[in-house]
Amino acid sequence: MSRSRVALLVAAVVGLTVLTGCGGGTAASGSGGGGAITLGFAQVGAESGWRTANTKSIQSSAKDAGITLKFSDAQQKQANQIQAIRSYIQQKVSVIAFSPVVETGWDTVLKEAKTAGIPVILTDRAVDSKDTTLYKSFLGSDFVNEGKEAGDWVAKQYASATGPVNIAVLEGTTGSAPANDRSKGFNDVIKADSKFKVVASQDGDFTRAQGKQVMESFLKSQSKIDVLFAQNDDMGLGALDAIQAAGLTPGKDIKIVTVDATHDGMQALADGKFNYVVECNPLLGPQLMDLVKKVAAGQSVPNRILTKETAFDQDAAKAALPSRQY
Ligand code: AHR
Repeated sequence: MSRSRVALLVAAVVGLTVLTGCGGGTAASGSGGGGAITLGFAQVGAESGWRTANTKSIQSSAKDAGITLKFSDAQQKQANQIQAIRSYIQQKVSVIAFSPVVETGWDTVLKEAKTAGIPVILTDRAVDSKDTTLYKSFLGSDFVNEGKEAGDWVAKQYASATGPVNIAVLEGTTGSAPANDRSKGFNDVIKADSKFKVVASQDGDFTRAQGKQVMESFLKSQSKIDVLFAQNDDMGLGALDAIQAAGLTPGKDIKIVTVDATHDGMQALADGKFNYVVECNPLLGPQLMDLVKKVAAGQSVPNRILTKETAFDQDAAKAALPSRQY
């Protein structure tokens, strides 16, 4: 090889090294030292339309960002999620992200990730841990505010009613952040007026099947339900079947407020079967990948990133449906 060719080759290799170094910063363990990032993501499950949209968003954004994704579905079981996180630690992924099934019981496995030098990002749901150094950031919605918005709608709707206003609640998975927080936000509003009575409240696990089953039992045990607060669209959609089977008209005989604003929920709202839907945005993938790149590069990130959201009545749902992304 001529001297000039050798010089060109050396220059090219040096240039490549510098470029890689610029993009990668202080690479986290498992990034391969060459900027390649592997993300281990432990998903809750596939319990709802929201979750399906969230999974798709994470998978497609990882692909677009050039991040290698290792994905697991915990089937709504904390033990499965812990097992998945431990396997990501063993595989020395660059970053671990997960959406915790329930809020408590994470300290041990999060300490294991910290000891292994693998940064953790919480997406969608929070953990209830005093040690906030166990994760780098929490990206997701304000669930308390979602419950509050649902309660505000009920309070406004029945402002001039003398009462009692009988309310049934289909709760999300017991112990999960959205169930805890949406209940808190909702109850904080309605407890201000004694005409509002929560006559039935039970876990529907965020699924259509459970929403239907629990609503059937509510309708058997309660002589009058004025309002149903379903803590997600899927449980509300399941409840529609039970309400119709009982000879009642959803949206009229029983007013229905839900959370999520998935396409099916928005359709039920536009059709007059739901009355109000508070949005919870599942399209967290692009923001998550941005965070993953930053923490893998050793950069500091905000410890809380809130998702922007809105709420819909029936007219707003009709207008928004054609361009709804999920
Ligand atoms: O954590 C977000 C919640 O989980 C969504 O509201 C619900 O649909 C999902 O299953």
